[in-house]
Amino acid sequence: MQISKYIYSFSYDNAESELCKLESRYIFNKEEKNKLLFSDIKAEPSNSAFVKRRLDIISFSEDYSTLINDIKKESICVEGFKIEYLVFDGDTTGYAERLNKLRDIGYSIEGIPDYYSPTITYALCYYEGIWYFGNLIKNNYAWYKHKQKPCSYSSSISINIAKALVNIAAKANKEKKLLDACCGVGTIMLEACFAGNNIEGCDINWKICKDARENLSHFNYTANIYHSDIKDINNRYEAAIIDLPYNLFSSATDNDILHIIESTAEITDRLVIVSTSDITNLINNSGFRISDYCSVSKKGKTSFARKIWVCEKNG
Ligand SMILES: C[S@@+](CC[C@H](N)C(=O)[O-])C[C@H]1O[C@@H](n2cnc3c(N)ncnc32)[C@H](O)[C@@H]1O
Repeated sequence: MQISKYIYSFSYDNAESELCKLESRYIFNKEEKNKLLFSDIKAEPSNSAFVKRRLDIISFSEDYSTLINDIKKESICVEGFKIEYLVFDGDTTGYAERLNKLRDIGYSIEGIPDYYSPTITYALCYYEGIWYFGNLIKNNYAWYKHKQKPCSYSSSISINIAKALVNIAAKANKEKKLLDACCGVGTIMLEACFAGNNIEGCDINWKICKDARENLSHFNYTANIYHSDIKDINNRYEAAIIDLPYNLFSSATDNDILHIIESTAEITDRLVIVSTSDITNLINNSGFRISDYCSVSKKGKTSFARKIWVCEKNG
């Protein structure tokens, strides 16, 4: 039986479902289904807003007793372990039986469990006829701290979108050199730095650049932020994110938008563009081909949506 190395479980609401699927296509090369995804690709849950946990499969079997025997054969010996039961779609195992199964596994591991501050967490789950046991790695949500950044402003993007943009741009490759072309106060850069991505930022507004630098240093991150019109940046990047100006504070005409896209096109072959209005024609006229797309509406506000285009240079 061919089984993947990892099972990922996801958590998102309806408004973010398309965004989660878009992110998933760039981290895992496929979409999650029923909020689950099997993959051989190892990704850190905390680097996504939507990946809730990753199960690193140690043993699996269609037959529960075989699974228990296989776990015993692993001779796991660890102090302070904890075991959780993950209930996946289609698993009808009742609560009492789930507790019994956790006990079976507890007896198959040598060491004293610790349910309050475990040194390691294991998990058991059942999906589509197969029992799985493995190491459980959870999203630690430590990135929530960025919600308390010292400087914010009204045009800032949500932290969930920011994380997804980094993953879409980097395609889960930390080495890729990224640019946040209109970085604002650095919401996207904070998430890139948290995940260990290689990113630089640029913004035309001096005060906003100062705020972005303050935000990064508040969390002890270091990354270059250029106070510049994007047209004057000469470095090359493997991908650039452009969160286009959109409201009264940072308004932009079609010409401004074309100027930003065409200038960024000079320094990269791959763009991830965010806008609140439909700029498909502008993108098509700028020498780029749209290869992927999604729309994210603001929670509770169906009339306000951010659109995200993934674009590759023509030819
Ligand atoms: C929507 S805001 C970006 C918000 C940012 N993602 C955040 O969350 O803080 C767009 C930014 O583009 C910047 N901008 C506008 N024209 C620019 C240009 N030609 N070159 C670089 N930055 C530009 C504005 O100063 C503004 O801060």
